Amino acid sequence: MLKISSKLQKALKKALIKIYPEEDRSPKTSSILSSTNLVPASKPEFGDFQINCALALAKEIKQPPRLIAEKIVAQLQKDNDFLKICNAPIIAGPGFINLSINSKTLLSEIHIRLNDKRLGVPLKKFDTLKRKKGKNNLVIIDFSSPNIAKEMHVGHLRSTIIGDSLARVLEFCGYEVLRINHVGDWGTQFGMLINYLKEVAPEALHTKDVVEISDLVNFYRQAKKRFDEDQDFQNKSRSEVVNLQAGDKETLIAWQLLCNQSRKEFQKIYDRLDIQLTERGESFYNKFLKDIISDLDEKNLLINDQGAKCIFLNGLVGKDGKPQPTIVQKSDGGFNYTTTDLAAIKYRLTPPPEGDGACRLIYVTDAGQASHFFGVFQIAKLAKWIPSSCLVEHVPFGLVQGEDGKKLKTRSGDTIRLVDLLDEAIYRAKKDLNDRLKAESRSESENFINKVSTTVGIAAIKYADLSQNRVSNYQFSFNKMLSLQGNTAPYLLYALVRIAGLSRKGGDLNVSTQSILFSEPQEWTLIRKLLQLDSIIAEVEQELLPNRLCGYLFELSQIFNRFYDQVPILKAREPSKTSRLALCSITEKTLKLGMNLLGIPTLERM
Ligand code: ARG
Repeated sequence: MLKISSKLQKALKKALIKIYPEEDRSPKTSSILSSTNLVPASKPEFGDFQINCALALAKEIKQPPRLIAEKIVAQLQKDNDFLKICNAPIIAGPGFINLSINSKTLLSEIHIRLNDKRLGVPLKKFDTLKRKKGKNNLVIIDFSSPNIAKEMHVGHLRSTIIGDSLARVLEFCGYEVLRINHVGDWGTQFGMLINYLKEVAPEALHTKDVVEISDLVNFYRQAKKRFDEDQDFQNKSRSEVVNLQAGDKETLIAWQLLCNQSRKEFQKIYDRLDIQLTERGESFYNKFLKDIISDLDEKNLLINDQGAKCIFLNGLVGKDGKPQPTIVQKSDGGFNYTTTDLAAIKYRLTPPPEGDGACRLIYVTDAGQASHFFGVFQIAKLAKWIPSSCLVEHVPFGLVQGEDGKKLKTRSGDTIRLVDLLDEAIYRAKKDLNDRLKAESRSESENFINKVSTTVGIAAIKYADLSQNRVSNYQFSFNKMLSLQGNTAPYLLYALVRIAGLSRKGGDLNVSTQSILFSEPQEWTLIRKLLQLDSIIAEVEQELLPNRLCGYLFELSQIFNRFYDQVPILKAREPSKTSRLALCSITEKTLKLGMNLLGIPTLERM
């Protein structure tokens, strides 16, 4: 409906200019009339759109709102472009104007969808030649980003799932997307780990595959304990870090081995979730850190606070209410997480060949890092690294909790390993499926059962995460996410299975005919929903909230199911049969596209 709504906006603007000529407007009137006065209807019974400026205007020009609404309606009805699209406007309540799109327009939009792979969603066109000047089409999404020698946890899972979905949506819109895995692969933790391994498992430092990731995680824990307790161990660890940063050969080999071990483990998860990422970890920026500090120093941004180089930013106060410094170089000369992120942001915004030259940077991490990114973005702004045309955003998300509302843990109180989480979802999906097969006296091959339960399990985990507003904490519940009822992946998958079933029963879904015709209210409701896809995608592109797309797909499935249950399809006479199959076909394509943009696999039977 994007095109239609923009045509209506234009018609409305024209009408308002006719009634209230621009030169006669007071500043207030002007501001009311120049804002977006056409919004999607809040309820289906109000039609498709609503014009709501009569009320705001009434106060300003001291006329009854209904009178204003009548004037607007009269003017609109003189406009041929408007009349082509809309039924007669209806004035409701104190002065709202309700608009509903006429069936001819809806029908022609449906025709367009029948033969359009993008289902009416516009593809952005960019002048890539301009890229060198920094005005371009490249979006960088920094997501997943686990830490070497530590286990990937549910927070990283959320980041991975949300980041992947945003990447897919932006790619579909036409952007070039660079999916960056900013892995924690540098810093003090390696000093500790290498120092500790020298004592307990020196062979791991020069031979492949000696330690498992779970050993590594344990070693790291023990190393950290020693580091906190033992001054001598601390000093030695620090000197290992110095060795690493100085490029000492043996230390580098050990570091590589440890990174590879973790990397293999991460990759297993990415493969199972079908996630593509380009690894560019913290170590990549090591060579830029010194220059970052001198750049900030030249711009007079640094303050020396007890030997550490810091910046005091407006709005950043500590728990004691005092201004909180953001440290960019520690008193021992070492750099930290912030320094690396400053180097990263500069690199990502600098045009090629020195950097990536992106136009939009998106960082997907838990909300706990909000003040870190606030600081990084502020400093980058002060240092003038962010061109005015570029958008830099932190995309925060809430905690993953157990059903008790507490942090998600195993029964014994340990952190849950991601592989176990995925396995459990698949195991439960398999159990549900077997129960259902038994109840329906169906028999299916082992292969089918495995494929369906893997698809459903993974789909359920991803969808449960994406369908929540990411900002809120979310309660992880296998029961809820695997249910066939409610806003769940299985519910959406089931709508697709129903459509595939129609085609198995001989319904031809390859409809491209001109002679489609609709009569039932269920059909029109479905049509209207189908036509909203483009606005929903545009919203996700702007606001980076995948739950909007989930909510849309859920409503679409509900409306489809009502249509499927209440209106005959295969048994209908022509042209109704073909017309209804056309709606099924567009619903199928819309659901598949939507699920694909969420990174969720689909199936034909379940
Ligand atoms: N490794 C970090 C963590 O596990 C996340 C990194 C996010 N990206 C960034 N550019 N800081 O919390």
